[in-house]
Amino acid sequence: MMKTLTLLAGALLGVTALASPLRIDVDARHDGPVLSRYLYGHFSEHLGDGLYNGLWVGPDSDIPTVGDGFRRDVVEALRELGVPVLRWPGGCFADEYHWRDGIGPRAKRPVRTNTHWGWVPEPNAVGTHEYFQLLELLGAEAYVAGNLGSGSVAEMADWLTYLTADGDHVLARERRANGRERPWKVAFWGVGNESWGCGGHLRPEHYADLYRRYATFLKAPPELAPLRIASGGYDALTEWTEVLARDVPKNLIDGISHHYYTLPTGDWAHKGASTGFPEREWIGTLARALALDEHIAAQVRVLERHDPENRIGLYLDEWGTWYDGDDPARPLYQRNTLRDALVAALHFHVFHRHAERVRMANIAQMVNVLQALILTDGPRMVRTPTYYAFWLHRPFRDARRLESRLRGVPRYRHGDLSVPAVDASAARAADGRILLSLVNLDPNRPQTLSVGLDGATAADHEAEVLTAEAMDAENRFDAPSAVKPRPLAVVQDGDRLRLTLPPKSVAVLRIRPSP
Ligand code: AHR
Repeated sequence: MMKTLTLLAGALLGVTALASPLRIDVDARHDGPVLSRYLYGHFSEHLGDGLYNGLWVGPDSDIPTVGDGFRRDVVEALRELGVPVLRWPGGCFADEYHWRDGIGPRAKRPVRTNTHWGWVPEPNAVGTHEYFQLLELLGAEAYVAGNLGSGSVAEMADWLTYLTADGDHVLARERRANGRERPWKVAFWGVGNESWGCGGHLRPEHYADLYRRYATFLKAPPELAPLRIASGGYDALTEWTEVLARDVPKNLIDGISHHYYTLPTGDWAHKGASTGFPEREWIGTLARALALDEHIAAQVRVLERHDPENRIGLYLDEWGTWYDGDDPARPLYQRNTLRDALVAALHFHVFHRHAERVRMANIAQMVNVLQALILTDGPRMVRTPTYYAFWLHRPFRDARRLESRLRGVPRYRHGDLSVPAVDASAARAADGRILLSLVNLDPNRPQTLSVGLDGATAADHEAEVLTAEAMDAENRFDAPSAVKPRPLAVVQDGDRLRLTLPPKSVAVLRIRPSP
Protein backbone atom coordinates (compact mmCIF):
# COMPACT_ATOMS: atom_id res chain seq x y z
CA MET A 1 0.00 0.00 0.00
CA MET A 2 2.75 2.38 1.06
CA LYS A 3 4.72 1.54 -2.09
CA THR A 4 1.66 2.24 -4.31
CA LEU A 5 1.15 5.60 -2.67
CA THR A 6 4.76 6.55 -3.16
CA LEU A 7 4.67 5.50 -6.79
CA LEU A 8 1.49 7.49 -7.33
CA ALA A 9 2.96 10.55 -5.70
CA GLY A 10 5.97 10.20 -7.91
CA ALA A 11 3.86 9.98 -11.04
CA LEU A 12 1.84 13.05 -10.01
CA LEU A 13 4.98 15.02 -9.43
CA GLY A 14 6.30 13.97 -12.80
CA VAL A 15 9.25 12.16 -11.22
CA THR A 16 10.48 9.54 -13.64
CA ALA A 17 12.58 7.52 -11.22
CA LEU A 18 11.75 7.45 -7.58
CA ALA A 19 14.91 5.65 -6.67
CA SER A 20 17.84 7.50 -5.23
CA PRO A 21 19.29 10.24 -7.42
CA LEU A 22 22.59 8.41 -7.12
CA ARG A 23 22.90 6.24 -10.20
CA ILE A 24 25.45 4.43 -12.26
CA ASP A 25 25.12 3.35 -15.85
CA VAL A 26 27.46 0.70 -17.14
CA ASP A 27 28.13 0.60 -20.86
CA ALA A 28 28.03 -3.12 -21.59
CA ARG A 29 28.23 -2.58 -25.36
CA HIS A 30 31.99 -2.02 -25.61
CA ASP A 31 34.70 -4.01 -23.88
CA GLY A 32 37.70 -1.91 -22.86
CA PRO A 33 41.28 -2.94 -22.11
CA VAL A 34 42.17 -6.07 -20.15
CA LEU A 35 42.62 -5.50 -16.42
CA SER A 36 45.76 -7.55 -16.15
CA ARG A 37 45.89 -10.09 -13.35
CA TYR A 38 49.21 -8.47 -12.45
CA LEU A 39 47.30 -5.43 -11.21
CA TYR A 40 46.60 -7.69 -8.25
CA GLY A 41 50.25 -8.51 -7.62
CA HIS A 42 52.27 -8.89 -4.43
CA PHE A 43 55.58 -7.99 -2.89
CA SER A 44 57.56 -9.58 -0.10
CA GLU A 45 60.90 -8.28 1.16
CA HIS A 46 63.49 -9.43 3.66
CA LEU A 47 62.02 -7.04 6.20
CA GLY A 48 60.74 -7.52 9.74
CA ASP A 49 58.50 -10.56 10.03
CA GLY A 50 57.48 -10.49 6.39
CA LEU A 51 59.54 -13.30 5.00
CA TYR A 52 61.07 -14.89 8.09
CA ASN A 53 58.35 -15.90 10.60
CA GLY A 54 55.60 -14.67 8.26
CA LEU A 55 56.09 -16.84 5.19
CA TRP A 56 59.00 -19.05 6.16
CA VAL A 57 59.72 -20.64 9.54
CA GLY A 58 62.11 -23.36 8.44
CA PRO A 59 61.70 -27.12 8.15
CA ASP A 60 62.32 -27.71 11.88
CA SER A 61 59.64 -25.36 13.15
CA ASP A 62 56.76 -26.58 15.34
CA ILE A 63 54.49 -24.57 13.10
CA PRO A 64 53.19 -26.84 10.32
CA THR A 65 55.02 -26.21 7.06
CA VAL A 66 54.95 -27.10 3.39
CA GLY A 67 57.87 -27.35 1.03
CA ASP A 68 61.12 -26.43 2.65
CA GLY A 69 59.82 -24.52 5.66
CA PHE A 70 56.96 -22.34 4.40
CA ARG A 71 54.02 -21.91 6.76
CA ARG A 72 51.17 -24.15 5.70
CA ASP A 73 48.44 -21.83 6.99
CA VAL A 74 49.82 -18.78 5.20
CA VAL A 75 50.49 -20.62 1.94
CA GLU A 76 46.98 -22.09 1.98
CA ALA A 77 45.36 -18.69 2.54
CA LEU A 78 47.37 -17.20 -0.31
CA ARG A 79 46.70 -20.12 -2.63
CA GLU A 80 42.98 -19.74 -2.02
CA LEU A 81 43.26 -16.10 -2.98
CA GLY A 82 45.50 -16.67 -5.98
CA VAL A 83 48.75 -14.77 -6.31
CA PRO A 84 49.56 -13.82 -9.89
CA VAL A 85 53.05 -12.46 -9.26
CA LEU A 86 55.39 -12.00 -6.30
CA ARG A 87 58.19 -9.44 -6.27
CA TRP A 88 61.29 -10.34 -4.21
CA PRO A 89 63.78 -9.82 -2.43
CA GLY A 90 63.19 -6.06 -2.00
CA GLY A 91 62.57 -3.12 -1.77
CA CYS A 92 65.60 -1.44 -0.39
CA PHE A 93 66.94 -4.84 0.57
CA ALA A 94 67.32 -5.75 -3.11
CA ASP A 95 70.16 -3.29 -3.60
CA GLU A 96 72.26 -4.90 -0.89
CA TYR A 97 71.36 -8.48 -1.74
CA HIS A 98 74.00 -10.74 -3.24
CA TRP A 99 72.31 -13.75 -4.71
CA ARG A 100 75.25 -16.09 -4.15
CA ASP A 101 74.68 -15.71 -0.39
CA GLY A 102 71.35 -17.48 -0.80
CA ILE A 103 72.25 -20.67 -2.68
CA GLY A 104 73.81 -23.95 -1.59
CA PRO A 105 73.39 -25.78 1.71
CA ARG A 106 71.52 -23.54 4.10
CA ALA A 107 73.84 -24.22 7.02
CA LYS A 108 76.76 -22.91 5.03
CA ARG A 109 75.18 -19.70 3.85
CA PRO A 110 76.75 -16.52 5.18
CA VAL A 111 74.98 -14.47 7.81
CA ARG A 112 75.01 -10.77 7.04
CA THR A 113 73.24 -7.71 8.42
CA ASN A 114 69.99 -6.35 7.10
CA THR A 115 71.17 -2.75 7.23
CA HIS A 116 67.91 -1.29 5.93
CA TRP A 117 65.50 -2.93 8.28
CA GLY A 118 66.49 -3.05 11.92
CA TRP A 119 70.19 -3.87 11.55
CA VAL A 120 69.29 -7.49 12.29
CA PRO A 121 71.12 -10.63 11.16
CA GLU A 122 70.16 -11.79 7.68
CA PRO A 123 70.63 -15.57 7.66
CA ASN A 124 70.09 -15.98 3.94
CA ALA A 125 67.96 -19.03 4.76
CA VAL A 126 65.50 -17.98 2.07
CA GLY A 127 67.31 -17.54 -1.21
CA THR A 128 66.76 -18.22 -4.87
CA HIS A 129 65.64 -21.86 -4.61
CA GLU A 130 63.30 -21.18 -1.72
CA TYR A 131 61.77 -18.21 -3.55
CA PHE A 132 61.06 -20.28 -6.63
CA GLN A 133 59.64 -23.03 -4.45
CA LEU A 134 57.31 -20.50 -2.87
CA LEU A 135 56.20 -19.36 -6.32
CA GLU A 136 55.41 -22.96 -7.19
CA LEU A 137 53.45 -23.44 -3.97
CA LEU A 138 51.46 -20.28 -4.70
CA GLY A 139 51.13 -20.73 -8.45
CA ALA A 140 52.70 -17.29 -8.89
CA GLU A 141 55.08 -15.84 -11.47
CA ALA A 142 58.49 -14.42 -10.67
CA TYR A 143 59.46 -10.78 -10.37
CA VAL A 144 63.09 -10.64 -9.27
CA ALA A 145 64.49 -7.30 -8.14
CA GLY A 146 68.18 -7.22 -9.03
CA ASN A 147 70.92 -5.36 -7.21
CA LEU A 148 72.13 -2.32 -9.13
CA GLY A 149 73.00 -0.19 -6.10
CA SER A 150 75.80 -2.28 -4.59
CA GLY A 151 76.18 -5.09 -7.10
CA SER A 152 77.84 -5.35 -10.46
CA VAL A 153 76.69 -5.89 -14.02
CA ALA A 154 78.31 -9.33 -14.00
CA GLU A 155 76.62 -10.31 -10.72
CA MET A 156 73.18 -9.39 -12.00
CA ALA A 157 73.77 -11.03 -15.38
CA ASP A 158 75.02 -14.21 -13.72
CA TRP A 159 71.97 -14.45 -11.50
CA LEU A 160 69.69 -14.46 -14.51
CA THR A 161 71.95 -16.98 -16.23
CA TYR A 162 71.93 -19.21 -13.13
CA LEU A 163 68.13 -19.19 -13.26
CA THR A 164 67.68 -19.74 -16.98
CA ALA A 165 70.73 -21.52 -18.44
CA ASP A 166 70.67 -25.14 -19.56
CA GLY A 167 73.07 -27.72 -20.95
CA ASP A 168 76.69 -27.61 -19.93
CA HIS A 169 76.78 -24.01 -18.86
CA VAL A 170 78.74 -23.81 -15.65
CA LEU A 171 75.92 -21.92 -13.89
CA ALA A 172 73.33 -24.46 -15.04
CA ARG A 173 75.51 -27.18 -13.53
CA GLU A 174 75.78 -25.25 -10.30
CA ARG A 175 72.00 -24.81 -10.16
CA ARG A 176 71.52 -28.53 -10.73
CA ALA A 177 74.02 -29.33 -8.01
CA ASN A 178 71.84 -27.16 -5.75
CA GLY A 179 68.78 -29.22 -6.55
CA ARG A 180 67.05 -27.66 -9.53
CA GLU A 181 67.30 -29.55 -12.80
CA ARG A 182 65.30 -27.41 -15.21
CA PRO A 183 65.76 -23.67 -15.79
CA TRP A 184 63.16 -21.35 -14.33
CA LYS A 185 61.05 -18.89 -16.23
CA VAL A 186 61.52 -15.38 -14.86
CA ALA A 187 58.61 -13.25 -15.98
CA PHE A 188 59.84 -9.85 -14.73
CA TRP A 189 63.20 -8.38 -13.74
CA GLY A 190 63.67 -5.15 -11.85
CA VAL A 191 66.99 -3.35 -12.39
CA GLY A 192 67.48 -1.86 -8.94
CA ASN A 193 64.91 -0.37 -6.58
CA GLU A 194 64.23 3.26 -5.64
CA SER A 195 67.54 4.27 -7.19
CA TRP A 196 66.68 7.89 -6.28
CA GLY A 197 66.96 6.85 -2.58
CA CYS A 198 67.99 3.64 -0.83
CA GLY A 199 69.07 2.15 -4.16
CA GLY A 200 71.99 4.55 -4.53
CA HIS A 201 70.74 8.16 -4.33
CA LEU A 202 71.37 8.47 -8.03
CA ARG A 203 70.35 11.19 -10.42
CA PRO A 204 67.94 9.93 -13.07
CA GLU A 205 70.38 10.67 -15.92
CA HIS A 206 73.11 8.65 -14.26
CA TYR A 207 70.72 5.83 -13.45
CA ALA A 208 69.45 5.81 -17.04
CA ASP A 209 73.02 5.26 -18.28
CA LEU A 210 73.61 2.53 -15.71
CA TYR A 211 70.29 0.94 -16.59
CA ARG A 212 71.30 0.80 -20.28
CA ARG A 213 74.45 -1.04 -19.32
CA TYR A 214 72.84 -3.50 -16.89
CA ALA A 215 69.91 -4.23 -19.19
CA THR A 216 72.27 -4.91 -22.11
CA PHE A 217 73.79 -7.87 -20.30
CA LEU A 218 70.57 -9.33 -18.90
CA LYS A 219 70.42 -12.25 -21.30
CA ALA A 220 68.32 -15.39 -21.29
CA PRO A 221 66.88 -17.80 -23.84
CA PRO A 222 63.98 -15.91 -25.48
CA GLU A 223 61.25 -18.13 -24.02
CA LEU A 224 62.59 -17.60 -20.48
CA ALA A 225 63.65 -13.98 -20.78
CA PRO A 226 62.04 -11.54 -18.38
CA LEU A 227 60.49 -8.19 -19.12
CA ARG A 228 62.97 -5.57 -17.87
CA ILE A 229 61.67 -2.96 -15.48
CA ALA A 230 63.64 0.20 -14.73
CA SER A 231 63.51 1.78 -11.29
CA GLY A 232 61.41 4.93 -11.57
CA GLY A 233 60.02 7.65 -9.35
CA TYR A 234 57.37 8.05 -6.72
CA ASP A 235 54.24 10.03 -5.89
CA ALA A 236 53.79 13.03 -8.21
CA LEU A 237 57.41 13.02 -9.39
CA THR A 238 57.62 12.61 -13.18
CA GLU A 239 61.31 13.31 -13.67
CA TRP A 240 62.36 9.66 -13.55
CA THR A 241 59.66 8.55 -15.95
CA GLU A 242 60.64 11.42 -18.26
CA VAL A 243 64.37 10.69 -18.32
CA LEU A 244 63.99 6.93 -18.61
CA ALA A 245 61.40 7.07 -21.36
CA ARG A 246 63.53 9.61 -23.23
CA ASP A 247 67.04 8.23 -22.73
CA VAL A 248 66.73 4.44 -22.74
CA PRO A 249 66.45 2.78 -26.15
CA LYS A 250 63.06 1.10 -26.46
CA ASN A 251 64.58 -2.32 -27.13
CA LEU A 252 66.15 -2.30 -23.66
CA ILE A 253 63.15 -1.46 -21.53
CA ASP A 254 59.68 -2.93 -20.99
CA GLY A 255 58.53 -1.01 -17.97
CA ILE A 256 59.20 1.75 -15.48
CA SER A 257 58.42 1.19 -11.84
CA HIS A 258 56.69 3.77 -9.68
CA HIS A 259 55.95 3.74 -5.94
CA TYR A 260 53.13 5.27 -3.98
CA TYR A 261 52.41 4.96 -0.28
CA THR A 262 49.29 6.31 1.42
CA LEU A 263 49.87 8.11 4.73
CA PRO A 264 46.86 9.29 6.74
CA THR A 265 48.46 12.67 7.43
CA GLY A 266 50.77 12.93 4.44
CA ASP A 267 53.61 13.65 6.89
CA TRP A 268 56.42 11.07 7.10
CA ALA A 269 57.38 12.28 10.58
CA HIS A 270 53.85 11.68 11.94
CA LYS A 271 52.13 9.33 9.56
CA GLY A 272 49.15 8.46 11.74
CA ALA A 273 48.05 5.40 13.67
CA SER A 274 46.79 2.12 12.24
CA THR A 275 43.86 1.96 14.71
CA GLY A 276 42.11 4.36 17.06
CA PHE A 277 42.48 7.17 14.54
CA PRO A 278 40.18 10.21 14.29
CA GLU A 279 37.78 10.73 11.37
CA ARG A 280 40.16 13.35 9.99
CA GLU A 281 42.67 10.56 9.37
CA TRP A 282 40.00 8.36 7.85
CA ILE A 283 39.15 10.95 5.21
CA GLY A 284 42.79 12.02 4.87
CA THR A 285 43.80 8.45 4.08
CA LEU A 286 41.05 7.98 1.51
CA ALA A 287 41.72 11.36 -0.11
CA ARG A 288 45.38 10.42 -0.48
CA ALA A 289 44.46 7.00 -1.87
CA LEU A 290 42.34 8.73 -4.52
CA ALA A 291 45.20 11.16 -5.29
CA LEU A 292 47.07 8.24 -6.82
CA ASP A 293 44.86 8.73 -9.86
CA GLU A 294 46.41 12.09 -10.70
CA HIS A 295 49.95 10.86 -9.95
CA ILE A 296 49.53 8.00 -12.39
CA ALA A 297 47.86 10.24 -14.96
CA ALA A 298 50.93 12.49 -14.81
CA GLN A 299 53.25 9.53 -15.52
CA VAL A 300 50.98 8.37 -18.32
CA ARG A 301 51.10 11.79 -19.98
CA VAL A 302 54.89 11.63 -20.00
CA LEU A 303 54.86 8.14 -21.44
CA GLU A 304 52.37 9.11 -24.14
CA ARG A 305 54.80 11.77 -25.33
CA HIS A 306 57.86 9.52 -25.45
CA ASP A 307 56.21 6.21 -26.21
CA PRO A 308 52.97 6.78 -28.11
CA GLU A 309 53.08 3.17 -29.34
CA ASN A 310 52.58 2.09 -25.70
CA ARG A 311 55.55 -0.27 -25.42
CA ILE A 312 56.68 0.81 -21.98
CA GLY A 313 54.37 -0.15 -19.15
CA LEU A 314 54.00 1.57 -15.82
CA TYR A 315 54.64 -0.83 -12.95
CA LEU A 316 53.33 0.38 -9.62
CA ASP A 317 55.40 -2.24 -7.90
CA GLU A 318 54.94 -0.86 -4.39
CA TRP A 319 51.74 0.63 -3.02
CA GLY A 320 49.84 0.58 0.24
CA THR A 321 49.18 2.30 3.53
CA TRP A 322 52.08 3.25 5.79
CA TYR A 323 51.31 4.04 9.44
CA ASP A 324 53.46 4.85 12.46
CA GLY A 325 53.94 1.16 13.29
CA ASP A 326 52.55 -1.02 16.04
CA ASP A 327 55.52 -2.93 17.37
CA PRO A 328 59.03 -1.49 17.64
CA ALA A 329 60.41 -5.03 17.62
CA ARG A 330 58.80 -5.79 14.25
CA PRO A 331 59.81 -3.21 11.63
CA LEU A 332 56.90 -1.85 9.60
CA TYR A 333 54.41 -4.14 11.33
CA GLN A 334 51.01 -2.47 11.39
CA ARG A 335 47.48 -3.52 12.15
CA ASN A 336 45.06 -3.62 9.28
CA THR A 337 41.49 -2.40 9.39
CA LEU A 338 38.43 -1.73 7.32
CA ARG A 339 40.09 1.53 6.24
CA ASP A 340 42.84 -0.49 4.54
CA ALA A 341 40.22 -2.49 2.63
CA LEU A 342 38.76 0.75 1.27
CA VAL A 343 42.21 1.99 0.30
CA ALA A 344 42.81 -1.27 -1.57
CA ALA A 345 39.52 -1.08 -3.45
CA LEU A 346 40.07 2.59 -4.39
CA HIS A 347 43.52 1.67 -5.69
CA PHE A 348 42.05 -1.15 -7.78
CA HIS A 349 39.69 1.38 -9.34
CA VAL A 350 42.61 3.66 -10.17
CA PHE A 351 44.55 0.78 -11.73
CA HIS A 352 41.50 -0.14 -13.80
CA ARG A 353 41.11 3.45 -15.02
CA HIS A 354 44.71 3.45 -16.27
CA ALA A 355 44.85 -0.15 -17.43
CA GLU A 356 46.06 0.83 -20.90
CA ARG A 357 49.41 1.78 -19.39
CA VAL A 358 49.55 0.30 -15.89
CA ARG A 359 50.66 -3.29 -16.36
CA MET A 360 51.31 -4.30 -12.77
CA ALA A 361 50.67 -3.20 -9.19
CA ASN A 362 52.14 -4.94 -6.14
CA ILE A 363 50.83 -4.35 -2.67
CA ALA A 364 53.43 -3.69 -0.01
CA GLN A 365 53.61 -6.18 1.50
CA MET A 366 52.25 -9.69 1.62
CA VAL A 367 52.63 -10.71 5.29
CA ASN A 368 53.28 -8.74 8.52
CA VAL A 369 54.68 -5.67 6.76
CA LEU A 370 52.80 -2.43 5.96
CA GLN A 371 49.40 -3.09 4.34
CA ALA A 372 49.63 -6.82 4.84
CA LEU A 373 47.11 -9.35 3.60
CA ILE A 374 48.07 -11.68 6.40
CA LEU A 375 49.27 -11.11 9.94
CA THR A 376 50.89 -13.74 12.09
CA ASP A 377 51.60 -14.00 15.78
CA GLY A 378 53.75 -17.03 16.52
CA PRO A 379 51.67 -19.98 15.30
CA ARG A 380 48.53 -17.86 14.84
CA MET A 381 47.45 -16.29 11.57
CA VAL A 382 44.71 -13.95 10.49
CA ARG A 383 43.42 -12.74 7.10
CA THR A 384 43.14 -8.97 7.17
CA PRO A 385 40.40 -6.76 5.68
CA THR A 386 42.88 -6.07 2.86
CA TYR A 387 42.95 -9.80 2.12
CA TYR A 388 39.18 -9.72 1.76
CA ALA A 389 39.29 -6.66 -0.50
CA PHE A 390 41.55 -8.68 -2.81
CA TRP A 391 39.22 -11.64 -2.37
CA LEU A 392 36.16 -9.68 -3.49
CA HIS A 393 38.00 -8.45 -6.57
CA ARG A 394 39.25 -11.83 -7.78
CA PRO A 395 36.91 -11.86 -10.81
CA PHE A 396 38.40 -8.57 -12.00
CA ARG A 397 41.68 -10.31 -12.81
CA ASP A 398 41.98 -10.45 -16.60
CA ALA A 399 38.48 -9.01 -16.97
CA ARG A 400 37.86 -6.24 -19.52
CA ARG A 401 37.09 -2.77 -18.33
CA LEU A 402 33.62 -1.40 -19.00
CA GLU A 403 33.04 2.33 -18.97
CA SER A 404 30.55 3.50 -16.39
CA ARG A 405 28.98 6.82 -15.52
CA LEU A 406 28.20 7.77 -11.94
CA ARG A 407 25.73 10.60 -11.46
CA GLY A 408 24.45 12.42 -8.42
CA VAL A 409 27.41 11.48 -6.22
CA PRO A 410 27.32 13.51 -3.02
CA ARG A 411 30.52 14.77 -1.42
CA TYR A 412 31.61 13.34 1.88
CA ARG A 413 33.07 16.19 3.91
CA HIS A 414 34.93 16.36 7.15
CA GLY A 415 36.55 19.59 8.30
CA ASP A 416 38.22 21.15 5.29
CA LEU A 417 38.55 17.83 3.47
CA SER A 418 36.09 16.45 0.99
CA VAL A 419 35.97 13.45 -1.36
CA PRO A 420 33.27 11.90 -3.55
CA ALA A 421 31.17 9.68 -1.29
CA VAL A 422 31.10 6.86 -3.83
CA ASP A 423 33.66 5.49 -6.25
CA ALA A 424 33.08 2.73 -8.79
CA SER A 425 34.66 0.54 -11.43
CA ALA A 426 33.04 -1.90 -13.85
CA ALA A 427 34.31 -4.77 -15.94
CA ARG A 428 33.26 -7.87 -17.85
CA ALA A 429 34.75 -10.99 -16.33
CA ALA A 430 36.26 -13.77 -18.40
CA ASP A 431 33.07 -15.82 -17.81
CA GLY A 432 30.85 -13.04 -19.20
CA ARG A 433 29.53 -11.67 -15.90
CA ILE A 434 29.36 -7.92 -15.52
CA LEU A 435 31.21 -6.78 -12.43
CA LEU A 436 30.74 -3.61 -10.49
CA SER A 437 33.04 -2.63 -7.65
CA LEU A 438 31.70 0.08 -5.36
CA VAL A 439 33.15 1.96 -2.41
CA ASN A 440 31.17 4.10 0.01
CA LEU A 441 33.83 6.35 1.52
CA ASP A 442 31.43 8.05 3.90
CA PRO A 443 31.73 6.44 7.35
CA ASN A 444 28.43 7.93 8.53
CA ARG A 445 25.86 7.67 5.74
CA PRO A 446 24.61 4.79 3.59
CA GLN A 447 24.26 5.38 -0.15
CA THR A 448 21.43 3.95 -2.21
CA LEU A 449 22.45 3.41 -5.79
CA SER A 450 20.47 2.64 -8.90
CA VAL A 451 22.41 0.54 -11.41
CA GLY A 452 21.61 0.45 -15.12
CA LEU A 453 23.19 -1.53 -17.92
CA ASP A 454 23.40 -0.14 -21.44
CA GLY A 455 23.27 -2.95 -23.96
CA ALA A 456 22.53 -5.79 -21.54
CA THR A 457 19.78 -7.08 -19.27
CA ALA A 458 20.45 -8.67 -15.92
CA ALA A 459 19.37 -12.30 -15.77
CA ASP A 460 20.53 -12.71 -12.21
CA HIS A 461 22.81 -11.02 -9.79
CA GLU A 462 24.54 -11.33 -6.47
CA ALA A 463 26.56 -8.97 -4.34
CA GLU A 464 28.87 -9.08 -1.37
CA VAL A 465 29.94 -6.32 0.93
CA LEU A 466 32.79 -5.72 3.32
CA THR A 467 31.91 -3.40 6.17
CA ALA A 468 31.82 -3.06 9.96
CA GLU A 469 30.58 -0.78 12.69
CA ALA A 470 33.88 0.90 13.43
CA MET A 471 36.23 2.70 11.04
CA ASP A 472 39.11 0.74 12.54
CA ALA A 473 37.40 -2.64 12.72
CA GLU A 474 39.95 -5.39 12.28
CA ASN A 475 40.28 -9.15 12.30
CA ARG A 476 41.99 -10.13 15.51
CA PHE A 477 43.70 -13.43 16.19
CA ASP A 478 40.90 -14.28 18.64
CA ALA A 479 38.14 -12.88 16.37
CA PRO A 480 39.34 -13.51 12.82
CA SER A 481 36.01 -13.01 11.02
CA ALA A 482 34.94 -9.55 12.19
CA VAL A 483 35.55 -8.00 8.77
CA LYS A 484 34.62 -10.50 6.12
CA PRO A 485 32.49 -10.31 2.96
CA ARG A 486 28.78 -10.86 3.56
CA PRO A 487 25.88 -11.02 1.09
CA LEU A 488 24.39 -7.66 0.13
CA ALA A 489 20.76 -7.30 -0.91
CA VAL A 490 20.12 -6.16 -4.48
CA VAL A 491 16.60 -5.59 -5.78
CA GLN A 492 15.31 -5.44 -9.32
CA ASP A 493 13.80 -2.00 -9.90
CA GLY A 494 12.19 -2.10 -13.37
CA ASP A 495 15.07 -2.52 -15.75
CA ARG A 496 17.52 -1.31 -13.12
CA LEU A 497 19.01 -2.78 -9.96
CA ARG A 498 19.02 -1.07 -6.62
CA LEU A 499 21.25 -1.58 -3.65
CA THR A 500 22.25 0.27 -0.54
CA LEU A 501 25.89 0.55 0.33
CA PRO A 502 26.37 0.68 4.08
CA PRO A 503 28.54 3.49 5.42
CA LYS A 504 32.29 2.76 4.99
CA SER A 505 31.98 -0.23 2.75
CA VAL A 506 33.37 -2.02 -0.28
CA ALA A 507 30.95 -4.04 -2.38
CA VAL A 508 31.19 -6.10 -5.53
CA LEU A 509 28.10 -6.77 -7.62
CA ARG A 510 28.19 -9.64 -10.10
CA ILE A 511 25.54 -9.62 -12.79
CA ARG A 512 24.87 -12.44 -15.20
CA PRO A 513 23.45 -10.85 -18.34
CA SER A 514 20.65 -12.52 -20.29
CA PRO A 515 22.04 -14.38 -23.29
O1 AHR B 1 58.10 -1.47 1.36
C1 AHR B 1 59.01 -0.89 2.25
C2 AHR B 1 60.05 -0.02 1.55
O2 AHR B 1 59.42 1.06 0.96
C3 AHR B 1 60.80 -0.66 0.42
O3 AHR B 1 61.88 -1.40 0.85
C4 AHR B 1 61.26 0.52 -0.38
O4 AHR B 1 61.38 0.22 -1.75
C5 AHR B 1 60.20 1.56 -0.10
O5 AHR B 1 60.75 2.76 0.27
